[in-house]
Amino acid sequence: MSDKQDFPPGFLWGAATAAYQIEGAWDEDGKGESIWDRFVRRPGVIADGATGDVACDHYHRYAEDVDHMAAMGLNAYRFSIAWPRIFPNGGGRPNQAGLDFYRRLIAALHRHNITPMATLYHWDLPQALEDRGGWANRDTAMRFAEYASFLFHALGDDVPLWATHNEPFIQGFYGYGNGENAPGRRNPWAILPVGHHLLLSHGMAVDAFRAANLSAAQIGIVLMIWPHHPVSQRPADVRAARRVDGAMNRIFLEPLFRGCYPEDMLTHFGRRLMRPPIRPGDMEIISRPIDFLGVNTYTRIVHTADWRDVLVGARQIPPHGPTTAMGWEIYPNCIVEALQKVAEYTDIPLYITENGAAFDDLVEPDGSINDATRIDYLWAHIAAARRAINAGIDLRGYFVWSLIDNFEWAQGKTKRFGLIHVDYATQRRTWKASARFFRDLIAKNTR
Ligand code: FCB
Repeated sequence: MSDKQDFPPGFLWGAATAAYQIEGAWDEDGKGESIWDRFVRRPGVIADGATGDVACDHYHRYAEDVDHMAAMGLNAYRFSIAWPRIFPNGGGRPNQAGLDFYRRLIAALHRHNITPMATLYHWDLPQALEDRGGWANRDTAMRFAEYASFLFHALGDDVPLWATHNEPFIQGFYGYGNGENAPGRRNPWAILPVGHHLLLSHGMAVDAFRAANLSAAQIGIVLMIWPHHPVSQRPADVRAARRVDGAMNRIFLEPLFRGCYPEDMLTHFGRRLMRPPIRPGDMEIISRPIDFLGVNTYTRIVHTADWRDVLVGARQIPPHGPTTAMGWEIYPNCIVEALQKVAEYTDIPLYITENGAAFDDLVEPDGSINDATRIDYLWAHIAAARRAINAGIDLRGYFVWSLIDNFEWAQGKTKRFGLIHVDYATQRRTWKASARFFRDLIAKNTR
């Protein structure tokens, strides 16, 4: 089978990372404490007790990492900016040294003709803002807009693609609902207000972006969109899957593109729950036009109705088929289904901003890593991206999660998603077979 798949001219082939997962240097050059810096120090919250204090030491090794991207032929790179590097306390005076790091990174990318896509928030809130209520406090949205505005003016067109947030669902649900992510709060009733404030801050940042009047840059947001299927056609199961789709996907898509929360979700969660944080004018701000949408998708989830789950009355059915090391079913059509779901709401350009797989990679005695399962995963998912384009979806790029093995949140360093292996003891980078596969695929498909 040929791996020439005829992707459109200008298609972006990239890899994605996030600041806390790779940078390390957690307290260097004036950086402030983030909620992750605080959270990882709680006993028992990270599977292997790891922290992101050093992570991949990318803060010091970014030039080497950009060289790897160039050698792979990437023409785009998605990274996130650590808010507490720029504003150590969340606001006030910016920290020049933190900004300079991103300037150096972006300059290195441009030297290699790699298009930067910067995410403003990949879950590392300045702890100082968490101390004042975090995302449960509406004020945090204003602080975010100020931070965003500062960066639009400081970096501007040097970053052609700006994303406000990464996966607001995960920040809201895991950060404030079940406490598995930072800041580790366990208050299911905070999830919806937190989600609303995240969306509001997105809209305010879009306004700040338009006010900055850049000539070549675009703005969007990155959502997690996984398909949710019922285990049977029993009406109760169908409704359960639909509720989960509502609570994870539509609850973001509808406000962003239609300026309202889904009617069934308002009924289900109760209007009272949402009313306090929604103020007149909020929905107009949230639904400001954006230039692109980033879609993160990895798998699908199958559900059955079960009211022991008080939030959505659904229980996940464990996958039957092959899974990744995360226990996620390998289901390549998630790409097509996720993009088609989004296309029900908008026809703006779309990017797959994350897709990839963790496997228990074996390092051979000669040091090589022959991750054939990851290659199969990527091959099948990229073929699905091609199918989505054939079906009329305006897909402009595909970013593998991740460039290098990194700190996988509550899983610590136990889960490896990289195309490049990292030996955490020496910080040595080694290309896995999948990195060579991706390089060859890009070479055949770039014009
Ligand atoms: C996504 C996150 C990313 C990474 C992958 C595996 O939800 O955005 O940081 O952890 O999952």
